Amino acid sequence: MRILVTGKNGQLGKSINKIVNTDNGKNNYQQDNKFIFVGREELDLSSESGINHYFDNNDKFDIIINCAAYTQVDKAEQEVELANQINHLAVKQLASIASKQKAKLIHISTDYVFDGDSNKPYLETDKPNPINVYGKTKLAGEKALQEIMPTNAMIIRTSWVYSEYGNNFVKTMLNLGKERDELNVVSDQIGSPTYATDLAGAILEIIDNKDKKQSTEIYHYSNEGEISWYDFAKEIFELVDIRCAVKPITTQQYPTPARRPKNTLMNKAKIAKTFSVGISDWKESLNTCITILKEQ
Ligand SMILES: NC(=O)c1ccc[n+]([C@@H]2O[C@H](COP(=O)([O-])OP(=O)(O)OC[C@H]3O[C@@H](n4cnc5c(N)ncnc54)[C@H](OP(=O)(O)O)[C@@H]3O)[C@@H](O)[C@H]2O)c1
Repeated sequence: MRILVTGKNGQLGKSINKIVNTDNGKNNYQQDNKFIFVGREELDLSSESGINHYFDNNDKFDIIINCAAYTQVDKAEQEVELANQINHLAVKQLASIASKQKAKLIHISTDYVFDGDSNKPYLETDKPNPINVYGKTKLAGEKALQEIMPTNAMIIRTSWVYSEYGNNFVKTMLNLGKERDELNVVSDQIGSPTYATDLAGAILEIIDNKDKKQSTEIYHYSNEGEISWYDFAKEIFELVDIRCAVKPITTQQYPTPARRPKNTLMNKAKIAKTFSVGISDWKESLNTCITILKEQ
């Protein structure tokens, strides 16, 4: 199969690449398939003509995994048009292209499609109600995809993604923890972190042999556990033995340009049951990532 992965320089794109290319022969992803990883240099999602140009000049794909996105939640409040182009209009165009090529489209979305006012983990069937521009553009992308591809696509919503790559909460905490004696971290936003390598592994398992579903479905995927950013920071410092005091603060005490949902826990039973995908506990996966970061 020819498999296109967008967002090659992002956390998820790099994590897929890591597994595909360094799996010690445990899984023969490269032997059975040809993976093509592209970044904005090859496939610029900010322009309709750029997208058409790429697909007009390349052979057809069997699977497209869309890991690229406009992910700067606060900046999106200002750059509405650009965020909408990448998270919505480009996804719509990718869906049309995938549909014409009869390619399967695996698209990644976010817990921020929800308003966070629920007091129980969100199901795929719960009504989305995004409260910031990023969430609104991601939801518009989901809807456009579902309309164009009622079959042969998959939307995986994930949350609080971190990895050894790029910028993320774990790396920010490690850097700040070394510089400061004390840090204030929000304790009234609840969710589950996702180690990008775990999500990458789940996607590869699904495409490897388990996806027999024809209808386009939404799935939720994160690590197991229910924590606040404050709990997350405390555990990070504990694992690396950084002596930085973490103080809990409220969202109100830490204003940001984009509003954040309070509770974005997601129920993962559907993906686990449909594809027999194992879901690791957040502490276990954080430990794995921190071990890798320590070795770097
Ligand atoms: N990060 C999170 O906490 C989080 C939470 C929930 C859901 N998600 C979703 O998970 C998916 C993967 O996220 P991630 O954490 O891997 O994001 P990421 O690290 O920010 O990577 C996103 C990638 O998209 C690329 N991109 C941005 N604009 C582009 C354009 N115009 N053309 C082509 N590529 C472009 C970026 O390229 P450059 O490297 O060149 O900038 C970047 O490599 C996304 O769909 C995101 O919405 C993420």
